[in-house]
Amino acid sequence: MIARLSIRAPRTAFCVRRLHTQPKTAPFNIVFDIDGVLIKGKQVIPQTRRALELLWENNVPYIFLTNGGGVPESEKAEELSKKLGVPVNPDHLIVSHSPMRSLVPQYKDSNILVVGGKGSSCKRVAESYGFRRVVTPEEVHAVHPSACPISFCEARPVPFNKEYLQNVGMPVEAVMVFHDSVDWGRDLQICLDALASKGGALGTIKDSEDLHSTKQSVPIYFSNPDVVWSNEYPVPRFGQGTFKLCLEKIYKNLTGQELEFTTFGKPMTTTYQYAETLLNRISPFPPTSDGQPSKRTVYAVGDNPYADIAGANAYGWDSVLVKTGVFRTKGYENHHVHPATAVVDHVEDAVRWIFAKEKMKAQEQQKQR
Ligand code: G3P
Ligand code: MG
Repeated sequence: MIARLSIRAPRTAFCVRRLHTQPKTAPFNIVFDIDGVLIKGKQVIPQTRRALELLWENNVPYIFLTNGGGVPESEKAEELSKKLGVPVNPDHLIVSHSPMRSLVPQYKDSNILVVGGKGSSCKRVAESYGFRRVVTPEEVHAVHPSACPISFCEARPVPFNKEYLQNVGMPVEAVMVFHDSVDWGRDLQICLDALASKGGALGTIKDSEDLHSTKQSVPIYFSNPDVVWSNEYPVPRFGQGTFKLCLEKIYKNLTGQELEFTTFGKPMTTTYQYAETLLNRISPFPPTSDGQPSKRTVYAVGDNPYADIAGANAYGWDSVLVKTGVFRTKGYENHHVHPATAVVDHVEDAVRWIFAKEKMKAQEQQKQR
């Protein structure tokens, strides 16, 4: 059961402007997942607004950490801000592909195949990160319609300029899946083409013997491993992880080999390191009296045990699992593989549970003095 708190603040009109500057006083931070915790597709979860009010009233710095994406952080923040009705600072938001910035030094001048998202949205994201030669499956399809004969795409205006055609014709040096595919048939085909090609040249394929004995031609990166996620539909929907499972299966079938890949997003450590850097920036903790950095207390609130809870637990954060998204249970049974520190009904109860735990901690510390 959820502890009811005596610290409940009076319900005040929520001052939107106050959220521009995050409070900096609480000795702990909260990291919120978005889909299935704060929103479900276009709908805002009813308890979200009160949860955010409580954070402000109690001076708790928090950030958003989502496996969603497909648009630059600034656009995602604006979109979230419109839904929640409060300003969201893009510097306090991490999307699945944010940590893929670390790949820029290695690939900034390489021809890369960027997969996922609507139209050229992920190409825009990749270019904004600093990748200079980006090609998308949609562009390959536009130049070579026979590459995906059963993919039924509407004709879209495509910039057939010289540089664009040159990128499509050049071998790709890496495949980067930035977001959910909007055309799985086309994107699985073009990704497979790159992996099985001669040196990354699309439209070529290794000789049969090589296909079964040599490694994939190019590395592939995924921005998150979510098999499912939660929107307003009554049951969870396929995520990027399911696309990856399909690609792995097809690659194995075609080559007899395991697909090698690198994954970002929750629950990967790289994403939590990225989040910690952000927390250090927005809410620096003073060093202890002996000059050592103080240990940061972080609570992660999420709905997906395999992403939010697994990642937080592995990184040494406390985890609070809500029942408004992927995870469903009648009572308060914990997840069988990735048990959270606490299981609660929704995001407001998550915040109240965290406050109660912090209050108990403070009382114990008081007694010890
Ligand atoms: O693709 C899955 C993603 O949308 C899940 O987002 O906020 O639950 O990490 P989130
Ligand atoms: Mg979620």
